[in-house]
Amino acid sequence: MHQDNPAQPRRRFLQWLAGLGAASALGPGVAAPPLPVIKKSIPSSGELLPVIGMGSWLTFDVGADEALRATRVQVMQEFFDRDGALIDSSPMYGSSQEVIGYCLRQIQNKQALFAATKVWIYGQWLGIKQMQAAQQLWGVARFDLMQIHNMLDWQSHLETLRAWKAEGRIRYIGITTSHGRRHQDLERALAKEPFDFVQFTYNLVDREVEQRLLPLAAERGIAVIINRPFQGGALFGPVRGKPLPAWAADFDCSNWAQFFLKFIVSHPAVTCAIPATSRVAHMRENMGAGFGRLPDAETRRRMLAVYANLAR
Ligand SMILES: NC(=O)c1ccc[n+]([C@@H]2O[C@H](COP(=O)([O-])OP(=O)(O)OC[C@H]3O[C@@H](n4cnc5c(N)ncnc54)[C@H](OP(=O)(O)O)[C@@H]3O)[C@@H](O)[C@H]2O)c1
Repeated sequence: MHQDNPAQPRRRFLQWLAGLGAASALGPGVAAPPLPVIKKSIPSSGELLPVIGMGSWLTFDVGADEALRATRVQVMQEFFDRDGALIDSSPMYGSSQEVIGYCLRQIQNKQALFAATKVWIYGQWLGIKQMQAAQQLWGVARFDLMQIHNMLDWQSHLETLRAWKAEGRIRYIGITTSHGRRHQDLERALAKEPFDFVQFTYNLVDREVEQRLLPLAAERGIAVIINRPFQGGALFGPVRGKPLPAWAADFDCSNWAQFFLKFIVSHPAVTCAIPATSRVAHMRENMGAGFGRLPDAETRRRMLAVYANLAR
């Protein structure tokens, strides 16, 4: 892109960010932001991933309802229009995988898709059947990332996933947990087996992974996906109607969703966060966290203090 004045991209970016507050005034097809999306590398390959991905639990489990499906197409369209790539799902999420496949078929500019789902069943053979079914539901030639959901029968599935990765049927192998469950088991699995990705919960009020799992992932060169970045939405309660601190503008943050997400993705060991939403306006806010500056270590401490004070 031709740039006459080095101050222009930032000014245009700030204008774009300010527009996020007036989301309904911006129709579909709104111009992409002028600054590049923030990406972090997957340690096992060096491939770059945008720091904001998309979750699908509950939010995409809308079954055959045509009106709800049409809204989800708009939500996903907004995701790709704002340079999104990683979409996370699971056979545990009801109709979500089928609805993701439906949405993907309606969207043209989805070349960046990084398709991530999970296997969640006992037994190696049943796991294979489940993963094959997921591929049909999504309509993808192969998954970029296959994760073992909540460590369920993980040794059986790992054998399949290793073979599939060697054959090029998937690109990366991952394992997940959430809500602070089974952290010790996960730690043992990560220390022993060569996973490309791990997924667990981390946010302003659930920071247990700072102690052992985040440092271990960094040491072992494992990419980290953060689930429940808004604590399932609960983080918004204490800040409703409260203004952001003025210094949030110093790291290009214009709403509380971005405050929560930038706290997460600025952790050096985190690769990306996967907030889930059923609304276009929320997707627009969330994707804004993937642009501009990120808070430094001192600012992250201030963010924690501010939130703890408001949540008291
Ligand atoms: N074990 C596992 O592997 C595991 C476990 C849990 C989750 N996950 C993955 O992680 C994803 C994220 O976790 P989650 O869905 O539990 O919770 P989350 O992303 O922390 O929170 C989702 C909630 O936040 C609300 N929200 C989203 N953006 C918002 C915004 N800008 N302003 C206000 N509210 C907003 C959503 O409501 P609206 O729809 O109204 O926006 C929704 O109720 C899941 O969808 C799933 O893909 C994986």
